[in-house]
Amino acid sequence: MTAPAAVLAGDEADPLPIVMVAAMARNGVIGVDNGLPWHMRSDLKHFRAATWGKPMIMGRKTYQSIGRPLPGRETVVVTRDPAFAAEGVHVVDGLDAAFALAAMLARTSGAEEIIVAGGATIYAEAMKRADRLVITEIQLEAEGDAVFPPIDPLQWLQASRTAYPRGEKDDAAYDVVVWQRR
Ligand SMILES: NC(=O)c1ccc[n+]([C@@H]2O[C@H](COP(=O)([O-])OP(=O)(O)OC[C@H]3O[C@@H](n4cnc5c(N)ncnc54)[C@H](OP(=O)(O)O)[C@@H]3O)[C@@H](O)[C@H]2O)c1
Repeated sequence: MTAPAAVLAGDEADPLPIVMVAAMARNGVIGVDNGLPWHMRSDLKHFRAATWGKPMIMGRKTYQSIGRPLPGRETVVVTRDPAFAAEGVHVVDGLDAAFALAAMLARTSGAEEIIVAGGATIYAEAMKRADRLVITEIQLEAEGDAVFPPIDPLQWLQASRTAYPRGEKDDAAYDVVVWQRR
């Protein structure tokens, strides 16, 4: 299972794109009390479609808030707790190991990109490595304790923005915004 990170990730001639997928309120909030501050069935469907078949990296807290491995995606959980174990997911002790393992999983399954799925700590740490941000902007203000890191317009170009109406099981309308690293 273990292989040198440089061989699997950084030194590859053609490294796989790293895509951060997140949903945030207008004020940047992404979470509260280790959960989501909204009900957005449409975004859950969007998340499933955007991540399906791709290896997904997430922090231990986000994994525990979901509470189970999501189907159709290999999950790599990052933790500093050597005793942490969970069935049906891969557990690693840092982001270098997470990207190396995700790259290997993607090569094995034929996935064309690696997903970073949060939460706030992992987004902040992984942002410098990301190639694309796929952000659901939920058209509400939320109170919370977890936020997405600032998106610096000098580093990120807004490639597209698509507006969607509020669905029957959604708290608000939303836009899906794709940012590409400049
Ligand atoms: N709206 C969205 O799109 C979205 C997506 C995902 C999550 N969320 C929300 O975000 C919140 C959770 O975010 P969070 O920042 O509290 O937690 P998190 O990023 O999910 O997990 C943090 C944990 O990851 C581990 N970790 C982080 N960096 C590490 C590193 N460099 N090396 C090893 N382990 C590392 C640590 O685990 P240990 O403490 O075990 O060492 C740390 O406590 C929740 O409210 C969740 O619902 C929202």
